[in-house]
Amino acid sequence: MHGQGQRLVFTQTLTQAPLHNGRPPGDAAEPSAADPEVFPPRHGLAAAIEVLKKERNAIVLAHYYQDTSIQDCADFIGDSLELSRKAASTEAEVIVFCGVHFMAETAKILNPGKTVLLPDLEAGCSLADACPADAFADFRRRHPDHIVVSYINCSAAVKAKSDLICTSSNAVHLVQQLPADRPILFAPDQNLGRWVARESGRELTLWPGSCIVHETFSEQALLQLRLEHPEAEVIAHPECQQHLLDLADFIGSTSKLLQRTETSAAPSFIVLTEPGILHQMRRRSPGKTLYEVPGADGCSCNACPYMRLNTLEKLWQCLHTMAPALELDEEIRRQALVPIERMLAMSA
Ligand code: 13P
Ligand code: SF4
Repeated sequence: MHGQGQRLVFTQTLTQAPLHNGRPPGDAAEPSAADPEVFPPRHGLAAAIEVLKKERNAIVLAHYYQDTSIQDCADFIGDSLELSRKAASTEAEVIVFCGVHFMAETAKILNPGKTVLLPDLEAGCSLADACPADAFADFRRRHPDHIVVSYINCSAAVKAKSDLICTSSNAVHLVQQLPADRPILFAPDQNLGRWVARESGRELTLWPGSCIVHETFSEQALLQLRLEHPEAEVIAHPECQQHLLDLADFIGSTSKLLQRTETSAAPSFIVLTEPGILHQMRRRSPGKTLYEVPGADGCSCNACPYMRLNTLEKLWQCLHTMAPALELDEEIRRQALVPIERMLAMSA
């Protein structure tokens, strides 16, 4: 799904660390999932994760879209930029990234000497998947005079071919700093790119990618919710399609949406982003009412299927076995580090 043909290598060894029962899961004589020595009972998972974190000198970083049980076990919860900053500054020896593949990969790019674990390696992203490195290199070659700005939701191989990385919380600010006489390529999210172009006043040539989660929200359901709750503020992530962003009162990254629910005087919010963020919104603003917008068919496809591959059990298991761990081709890692460090410096 990700990384194929891009010289990325993953280790999936399940025996890297000693196991309490001396046998890796998958062994012919593997005990059942109910065996407390291999899979602690659900009610004991959070405590078992705490013990393992200390044993491994590990930090658990979680994105706001993770399941609430994972958020509650995390040492740090944030948006893509905050998580990158935290990954860059942590002194822990092991980083467990509860998010999607490109996020864990970014942590590894910043920390080549540390073990970076992702509870489920299949936790990809439709944006990263829709932008293969070879096609991206062609795109770049066809626009030789352009500055190439890539959204952090892309593979390490694409980052390695980019001039600057951005996230949804700093994209406008970064693009505004680019020389006015240079044209700009923006990949891979066309919806974010359109919004950045509008906000920054810069013309961007866009890669035609989109997020399968943010493009499913139903405009009809949103209009109905607005009619039913005229007092509510509509807040949206910039990965949403333009016709939905046009209906929003406030647009921003996950962290900015969270802050908005705290600082706005509105008593309620109609939230156009992945519903995992509602957990922290409810925590920080318990008196406010939050409305989720369903997908176009009334489905609950507004939950990111990739993020939701990570579970509390897999978090425990990856800390227990120290796998799966990310590994990167060193040349790609070195090249990808340059535009990430540029982003961190420019958004400081
Ligand atoms: P944030 O940068 O707002 O955390 O967004 C990440 C993401 O994947 C949104 O779909
Ligand atoms: Fe990727 Fe969309 Fe999931 Fe974010 S919500 S990780 S952009 S698929």
